[in-house]
Amino acid sequence: MSQFHAINVADYYDTETFSKIKAFADTKPTPFVVIDTNIIAKQYNDMVESFPYADVFYAVKANPAKEILSLLRDKGANFDIASIYELNMVMELGVTPDRISYGNTIKKRQDVREFYQRGVRMFASDSEPDLRMIAEEAPGSRVYVRILTEGTETADWPLSRKFGCQNEMAYELLVLARDLGLQPYGISFHVGSQQRDIGAWDAAIGKVSVLFQRLKEDHGIELQMVNMGGGFPANYIDKTNTLGMYAEQITYFLKEDFGDNFPRIILEPGRSLISNAGILVSEVVLISRKSHTALERWVFTDVGKFSGLIETMDEAIKFPIYTEAKGPLERCVIAGPTCDSADIMYEQYAYGLPGDLAIGDRMYWLTTGAYTTTYSAVCFNGFPPLQAYYL
Ligand SMILES: Cc1ncc(COP(=O)(O)O)c(C=O)c1O
Repeated sequence: MSQFHAINVADYYDTETFSKIKAFADTKPTPFVVIDTNIIAKQYNDMVESFPYADVFYAVKANPAKEILSLLRDKGANFDIASIYELNMVMELGVTPDRISYGNTIKKRQDVREFYQRGVRMFASDSEPDLRMIAEEAPGSRVYVRILTEGTETADWPLSRKFGCQNEMAYELLVLARDLGLQPYGISFHVGSQQRDIGAWDAAIGKVSVLFQRLKEDHGIELQMVNMGGGFPANYIDKTNTLGMYAEQITYFLKEDFGDNFPRIILEPGRSLISNAGILVSEVVLISRKSHTALERWVFTDVGKFSGLIETMDEAIKFPIYTEAKGPLERCVIAGPTCDSADIMYEQYAYGLPGDLAIGDRMYWLTTGAYTTTYSAVCFNGFPPLQAYYL
């Protein structure tokens, strides 16, 4: 039996959907990503049904395409915004500022001013200089403080070290927020993207509830909101629990700490809403071996780390790759087309591709709707940014 993991498209897409995407893809030159917005609508509905008590703020950074933003706008979503540029994209589509949260803890003064002038009243923070700046430029706004969480080991794309502060500092910042005339609104965390360990939310919610209690007891500050971030799963090679299981467990953790009276719960999904909807299609440019006796083949394709697949950095995200080639799977190194030696997607991970894969064949990178289009370089080695089509 092959030691490699064979990719079965049916584990990722129903036959009708895949045929539709493929028929469209067949008419276009590679590389490009095709995104089926019906899948996004379904993922959004699943999220809302799984967490009926929560408000969904779509993390726009996952994919800010107009087609996606307007779909989610019409479905009633709110938006988690990382920059003034994302604010422009969302507001140009008629989203009102009460549906927007400025979730980046790193922001320029002039941007905070502009968010405020345009009506946004909810801001994340994790440091005193930022909080003081919000108090000056966005007086009276709601602020929530992001705390550090565990979970780096079990998330495929961890985030937690760069953002957030220790609980003690969060406590002090929320008191300071009140003293500065802001509204201390709540606490946020992000347990890491593609978080496999649902227990990561348990630990984080536990920390949050302690802060809720202490602030109330010590200062009479009644926080109202918990923002549980993203981290919900997309369908890559390594399997995860279902979203339903995440919801069941997380709801249980919330009940343990807050009883039946939950504060306002916000979710900020990005990856889990969008990834499954996309298939990136590339073409094999070259297949070679490094010596006559080398066991592994090098497969070079026309898409790489600099054209949308940056999440293969450290081989973190293992995208399922389907090809129509046949034959037993053989170990391959998979690399991109640029003259940069960092442009190798999978070398340590024993990726198996069919033995008769040939130059000119197409590779279908499944589950690539999120964090691909915007990560693509503008002109590295002359290659244009990744083309995207929305069905
Ligand atoms: C503040 C914030 N919220 C939400 C997300 C989305 O997380 P995910 O893609 O895991 O759903 C991110 C991702 O970077 C983020 O930075």
